[in-house]
Amino acid sequence: MRLAVLVGGKGRGSNMKAILHACKTGRIPSEGALVIAPKDDIPAVGIAREYGAEIAILSPKEQHFAADLVAILAAERIDLLCLAGFLKLLPVEVLQAMPDSILNIHPALLPKFGGKGMYGVRVHEAVLRAEQLESGCTVHYVNEQFDEGAILWQMLCPVEPGDTPETLAARILPLEHECYVEAIRKWIADHGKAGRKASM
Ligand code: GAR
Repeated sequence: MRLAVLVGGKGRGSNMKAILHACKTGRIPSEGALVIAPKDDIPAVGIAREYGAEIAILSPKEQHFAADLVAILAAERIDLLCLAGFLKLLPVEVLQAMPDSILNIHPALLPKFGGKGMYGVRVHEAVLRAEQLESGCTVHYVNEQFDEGAILWQMLCPVEPGDTPETLAARILPLEHECYVEAIRKWIADHGKAGRKASM
């Protein structure tokens, strides 16, 4: 089982860190994880180095991003690609190269409060505007639309009276870390440890 984490340009990297930590402690049965980041000078890359993860620098702004990403995933024999803070749509070539093997995390209970432009604080603002009593996070399969793939795992928490987008985000973030690890464990259990590649 080989796993890769694709982080975004802001690259805070807290979900990536939770995944690397779970690989290190054996909670996720993967031979470490490859971290793919758009640039070197973001916090996620520093954290990845501390964990001794392999790192590939590849920006979605590059002309051959799709082909290069597919080549990296193949060369590294990656079974599962996890998006963590990567906020762009993935090119179709990448989706086709990794069928049912790309996950993303979203900081709300999809199918509500997702879609283009819905990330970070905007998601929590929308939840509060809609006067929801609960929120949470969702790990879902990635397809050609924003936040629309099949849901794999969700975790819930209450929205408290007086919550601000920031307090809600702070309650949900640790839940995201737990949710992503559990979702990956479920994916591995559902697909078998050897995964898709074993039949090739
Ligand atoms: C996370 O909160 C994740 O749910 C969100 O980006 C953040 C990345 O943080 N993703 C989206 O909103 C996707 N629509 P991290 O870099 O600390 O993992």
